[in-house]
Amino acid sequence: MKKVNTRYISEIKREKKKFSALTAYDYSTAKVLDEAGIDIILVGDSLAMVALGYENTNSISMDEMKIFTKAVAKGVSRAMVVCDMPFMSYHCDISSAIANIGEAVKAGANAVKIEGSGEYIYSLIKRCSEFGIPVIAHIGFTPQAINAIGGHYIQGKTYNATLELLEQAKKLEEAGAFAIVLEMVPEESAKYISENLNIATISCGAGRFCDGQVLVSDDVFGKYSNFKPKFARRYGDMRKLIYDCATQY
Ligand code: KIV
Repeated sequence: MKKVNTRYISEIKREKKKFSALTAYDYSTAKVLDEAGIDIILVGDSLAMVALGYENTNSISMDEMKIFTKAVAKGVSRAMVVCDMPFMSYHCDISSAIANIGEAVKAGANAVKIEGSGEYIYSLIKRCSEFGIPVIAHIGFTPQAINAIGGHYIQGKTYNATLELLEQAKKLEEAGAFAIVLEMVPEESAKYISENLNIATISCGAGRFCDGQVLVSDDVFGKYSNFKPKFARRYGDMRKLIYDCATQY
């Protein structure tokens, strides 16, 4: 069984196939997702809300992310494990960002995900590429900027906004990102962006035309009940299953 790597993701893009990505935060869930053939397992900072009960994703620390990344990496043999770099772990300066990204890799991540665009982010990604650390970029709705955005709003709604996202995506590609998450972007905009990039796009509420899709597994399995994104299709009712098992017990 071959481990999923950046080359595999590029091949999928070239051959116009699709890949799957889901979040996991613990050893046993990661093991099942890996056995089920999920290609990328993201230790998303969404774990702040769904696993730790925090109000938003910005409260989670690098030390916490490392613990969950270690647990997930232990459960996985085939999938690519991606650590979502938490808020303020990569913003202060390039050297502290690289030190934290290095910690994520030491914890077992095969790649990291960072949100945003702009000159600082492009140079950070460039440095990671020079050090052989694969990076997934993340644009569109970026949850770590929720306070500035002011809510869960769709991004790239107009033609000009789409062109702006495409320009950011091209710069992220040029800097060395091997894939880009497009979150809450209209399907047609995401299609246009995907068609004009050589690297893979990953839809998170950005429709069917990206090269892969990532969702929070607790949403897909019906386990997290505080909030349900409209774009996350439910494949089961795990909350009920756990409740029924617990009451029978
Ligand atoms: O934290 C997360 O789970 C994410 C998403 C893209 C699913 O960043």
